[in-house]
Amino acid sequence: MELFRIIGGHPLVGTVQISGSKNAALPQFAATLLSSEESILENVPDLSDIRFMAEIISELGADVEQLDQTTWKIKPLNITHCAPYELVRKMRASICLLGPLTGRLKKAEIPMPGGCVIGQRPIDLHIRALECLGANVELDRGIVKVNGTNLKGNRIFLGGRHGSTVTGTSNAIMAAVLAPGVTTIESSACEPEIIDLCNMLVKMGANIVGIGSHFLTIEGVSKLCGCTHKVIPDRIEAATYAIAAAITQGEITINGAVSEHLGSFINVMQESGVSIETKSPSQLKVSLSQEELNSLEIITLPYPGFPTDLQAQTCALACKSNGLSILTERVYPSRFMHVPELMRMGADIAMEGASSLVKGKNKLTGAPVMASDLRASAALILAGLAAEGETWVQRIYHLDRGYDSFEKKLQGLGGIVERIAEKDLPISYSP
Ligand code: EPZ
Repeated sequence: MELFRIIGGHPLVGTVQISGSKNAALPQFAATLLSSEESILENVPDLSDIRFMAEIISELGADVEQLDQTTWKIKPLNITHCAPYELVRKMRASICLLGPLTGRLKKAEIPMPGGCVIGQRPIDLHIRALECLGANVELDRGIVKVNGTNLKGNRIFLGGRHGSTVTGTSNAIMAAVLAPGVTTIESSACEPEIIDLCNMLVKMGANIVGIGSHFLTIEGVSKLCGCTHKVIPDRIEAATYAIAAAITQGEITINGAVSEHLGSFINVMQESGVSIETKSPSQLKVSLSQEELNSLEIITLPYPGFPTDLQAQTCALACKSNGLSILTERVYPSRFMHVPELMRMGADIAMEGASSLVKGKNKLTGAPVMASDLRASAALILAGLAAEGETWVQRIYHLDRGYDSFEKKLQGLGGIVERIAEKDLPISYSP
């Protein structure tokens, strides 16, 4: 096991390059299975989740080759419809295989994803989409078994308790593109990652109308071809570096950040006193526009609302802001595993239902803390960069799932961050 040792109190200054988006690339790997022809994915981030997905589709029978650090070639000539539990259990996003396998092979057997620390994550909407398309879906000893022999286009309403579903929408689209007839998807998610998936599928020969809206119309085609597709930049990674600039009172130029994808985030940051200049459609310059930050108020919602994947990092920033900040989760109401760890660093946070109430301006001091999930680990590292003294962040394998070369990029900005294997821990480390 590895952990990060961080010495805080140094403003981050310089330029950082954003990698491709994890949440765009994962369903795109799955989408390549819709054709027996070769596809090339470019600008793919270097992450453990990507390697998991590559391993799973290789287990399904596809020829998978990494051509260089960010380019993968996939040729799914002959594939099976059963995904192995041992691999699928490691990554929830493997649920994205349901749609393409059902679409192409008219059947699928995917282990049901297990529990997740960020909250309840049922797949009832995924199943509803497949059933609307005429598939028979059953859960058999933990395996979701789909029989899509009679798959055909139909109306799908995809709205759920917490609004639309991102991977549920991906699965509905990927099952519908090869289903004879017309499918309409109402209340579909319209995240940039969904738009990118649709653009890739159109390159493969799919017929999709309404891309970017909450209402999609798909006319099924009989066959799809391979394609070459460049994955969009990671908006969550970009915003994480923007918060890194603000929380350390530094100045960072972020290359590859598509401001269009970050509307609600940029708005909240600017209101709190963070200057975010759009230097070009894909470059942001971030610094503080005032001495002290104002308090923040966010409510997480599906896109274009404030992303839940930025809530934890924004909570860390709120610890350094003036006054009382209120951060409410409407997507994952219990996604607050970072709160007790931030409090170990001296933060003053109270929980009220699905809201954290953060009394800002507290001096954060370095401490050993434990990462519980991907975004919580990023929040703890940001807090460590702003804290006085040494912070040790344990279980950073969570981070490696979603941030490409995080410590190298932070070091490039002047951050004092070191990755240490537990066996090499110095005496000074006393949890
Ligand atoms: C995607 O997860 C992202 N993962 C998540 O990012 C992100 O937090 C989430 O969307 C919301 O933006 C990937 O894209 C791989 P949802 P997904 O289905 O698709 C409920 C990260 O940190 N729901 O949009 O699994 C669900 O419980 C990860 O990178 C149902 O009720 O999320 C949640 O409350 C974490 N029934 C809400 O909808 C369903 O069938 C949104 O979930 C499906 C979802």
